[in-house]
Amino acid sequence: MSAPTGRARRVLAATAAAVVGTLAVGMAVAAPSSAAAEPTLGQLAAAKGRYFGSATDNPTLTNSAYTAVLGSEFGQITVGNTQKWQYTEPRRGQFDYTQGDQIVAFAQAHNQIVRGHTLVWHNQLPDWVTSVPAGELLGVMRNHIANVAGHYKGTVVHWDVVNEAFEENGTRRQSVFQQKLGDSYIAEAFKAARAADPNAKLYYNDYNIEGIGAKSDAVYNMVRSFKQQGIPIDGVGLQAHLVLGQVPSSLRQNIQRFADLGVDVAITELDIRMRTPRDAAKDAQQAADYRTVVNACLAVTRCVGITVWDFSDGYSWIPSVFPGEGAALIYDENFGKKPSYWAVFEALGGTTTTTTTTTTTTGGNGAGCTATYRVVGQWNGGYQGEVTVRNTGATATTGWTVRWTLAQGQTVGSLWNGVVSTNGQEVTVRNANYNGTVAPNGTTTFGFTGSSTGTNPVPTATCTTS
Ligand code: G3I
Repeated sequence: MSAPTGRARRVLAATAAAVVGTLAVGMAVAAPSSAAAEPTLGQLAAAKGRYFGSATDNPTLTNSAYTAVLGSEFGQITVGNTQKWQYTEPRRGQFDYTQGDQIVAFAQAHNQIVRGHTLVWHNQLPDWVTSVPAGELLGVMRNHIANVAGHYKGTVVHWDVVNEAFEENGTRRQSVFQQKLGDSYIAEAFKAARAADPNAKLYYNDYNIEGIGAKSDAVYNMVRSFKQQGIPIDGVGLQAHLVLGQVPSSLRQNIQRFADLGVDVAITELDIRMRTPRDAAKDAQQAADYRTVVNACLAVTRCVGITVWDFSDGYSWIPSVFPGEGAALIYDENFGKKPSYWAVFEALGGTTTTTTTTTTTTGGNGAGCTATYRVVGQWNGGYQGEVTVRNTGATATTGWTVRWTLAQGQTVGSLWNGVVSTNGQEVTVRNANYNGTVAPNGTTTFGFTGSSTGTNPVPTATCTTS
């Protein structure tokens, strides 16, 4: 698995430059050594021999605030929609890779590996496939795989070859492939994928197989039988569309038993949904849940990586499918890092060098906020800080201001996602023009680099809404 390397300095610069609202104040900032600046999740995972990635979809690639995070934070990208049959072979024998290629090109431009998703699935399947006569469907399926996996040969490191082929009770889903081709279609799909791209790792991918149960038992038995027969399967994808507080207790054991069959395991579509709106208790539970999932993967050598199913709550599939639920990811709608982000960061080995401090001030319109200040990177002569603003009131904020005093001669230099001014040792950061509105219980985060020559204690920050 190739890993992003030596990107810390570039990422820091890219983040500071790409995110709107940057305002540097006129004090010199010691240049961070590349090893000391805050690592990304992708870099932390790579240091543990894993990847940490995100799914994405084409419409979001035009949003520069979104792509600044997508391109810098993750070591891996999954094509969330546009490699599916509906997009790649919308009419029989007519292939279209335009949108899938856009995402692959983005990943390549950012040194990110790509998981291909997905070759054979009952959903997002064009109607013409459903009406193919039984005697022709195997040829149609093989031709689809040969073309799509052939097109992406050399650019996709994993393929989700077959997706969601089992029911909850462990029986086969009665998809058109199952009905017309019988049980053997899955093995045939894997053989066709191996022939099309011998170097891609070939995965079976499904949901509700994270813990031990009837469905994961069925997948386990299939994989064991494939290995015995020499059917080319390399991995099992546990989608992990999870519910707050309900990470299966057998997750690690389940990953291990698949690994013991001689296949890799990946967490392929991680999100952990809650009833919205968010609040501090739900965020804390979600952080604990993300930590549990990451730790379970890290505990098994053959668990090769983790992918979140997009990274920002503003771009998640959950609210449209589960009304009243959402907030399932690690960044909020404004691309602020949530407690779940920091849980992943720490589980992957990142350290926040100090504890957090929080104070609350209630502002003019009845909204209130807390500011949580972290030093997330420290190096000779400098540091990186991040402050998370949480709306603790019942109404949305229209703006916020965070203030603190730097008592040890530190300075604040480049700052992103906010507008900074200083007066002697007093630092004032107001919202940027795009992140002043924070929903009740919501959060937004700004970050900065600064210089420090001596100790760098965490200041007490105050937060005021307007
Ligand atoms: O592209 C059209 C657009 O032209 C149209 O205006 C719009 C109106 O509804 O629909 C757009 O297509 C949507 C597509 O996502 C792209 O955004 C489809 O309606 C919508 O159904 C589709 O949902 C996708 C879903 O798979 C389909 O089952 C989600 O984005 C995607 O995140 C989701 O991903 C799946 C994995 O592939 C497999 N595991 C479960 C996971 C979550 O359901």
